[in-house]
Amino acid sequence: MTEEFVGYDKLLRFVEERGLQNLEGDLVEIGAYMGGGTVKLASFAQKHGKRVFAIDVFDPSVDSTLGKGGVKASDVYQAYLLGRSMLEVYRETTSGFDNIVTIAQDSMKVRFPNDQRFMFGFVDGCHQQAYVKNDFHVIWPHLVSGGVLGFHDYKFDDWPEVTRAVDSLIDEHRAEIREAHELEAGYGILSMMLVKK
Ligand SMILES: C[S@@+](CC[C@H](N)C(=O)[O-])C[C@H]1O[C@@H](n2cnc3c(N)ncnc32)[C@H](O)[C@@H]1O
Repeated sequence: MTEEFVGYDKLLRFVEERGLQNLEGDLVEIGAYMGGGTVKLASFAQKHGKRVFAIDVFDPSVDSTLGKGGVKASDVYQAYLLGRSMLEVYRETTSGFDNIVTIAQDSMKVRFPNDQRFMFGFVDGCHQQAYVKNDFHVIWPHLVSGGVLGFHDYKFDDWPEVTRAVDSLIDEHRAEIREAHELEAGYGILSMMLVKK
């Protein structure tokens, strides 16, 4: 099984413990990379008759965001691919699932139809403030009441813009947020999980 870099099992435990599987809507992730997390979401979704929408540019060279530690995101993504095509690795990883809808696009260009509903979303795409804020707006209007939107790297030294973006989103949308939880899903990195009112 292809590696993932978040700790999706723990994310899904959070989702399951809150009974989100009983809510209306699908799952969505921004930042699917090699699909290792996507298949975990899809396996969970399958048990509950749901789909997973997976959004990624699938080009490891486009995200030139420089981490605080001096490493470029694109260099990290290329290193783990060992010369393979990201889209090919992703297709191979996810090939056993017919409930994954793949959207191979820059997340800035993605908008869902009004009637699309999500009960869980997870953002782990471009770590720049403008992208994190965009990714919130891609998912939040479609999140059902009680649904959860998570942000990876909320607290991780390399990506301070994620912390700034999420903090300002919480501030701006305080009236629509029921709870905000920090969740450690792996590698000592905290995700921020926002529960919608
Ligand atoms: C940290 S990786 C995701 C890792 C994945 N969640 C996992 O654990 O396996 C970030 C991903 O975001 C994608 N990405 C970066 N900028 C993007 C953008 N503007 N739109 C869509 N995807 C983007 C990259 O191609 C990369 O696959």
